[in-house]
Amino acid sequence: MLAHLHDFDAAPSRGVTLPDGRNVFIVRVHGQISAFVNLCPHQQVPLNLPEGSFLEAGGELIQCGMHGALFLPESGECVFGPCQGCFLEPVAVSIDAEGNIHLARE
Ligand code: FES
Repeated sequence: MLAHLHDFDAAPSRGVTLPDGRNVFIVRVHGQISAFVNLCPHQQVPLNLPEGSFLEAGGELIQCGMHGALFLPESGECVFGPCQGCFLEPVAVSIDAEGNIHLARE
């Protein structure tokens, strides 16, 4: 299990480490959960904002803390910033009946 839906009540995004060591982040925007590898397509560095969030202040878009690129949470597409048109690498997750978020089986 990577996280639980309740984990996103207090803060709508969080970073997690997969069993294979990859760092990913999960966001909940408008009730939808999505996950991406925590590497910005601009310079291949983690996106973490200073306060540990992955969303801009409005909570609608993913934001890179390094140069401020903004990404759509549905697709990971960069819609503003130096890597506009590039995509975050998605991580497929599933949510079970208890609200546990797991890596989706490949
Ligand atoms: S490294 Fe993310 S916008 Fe530059």
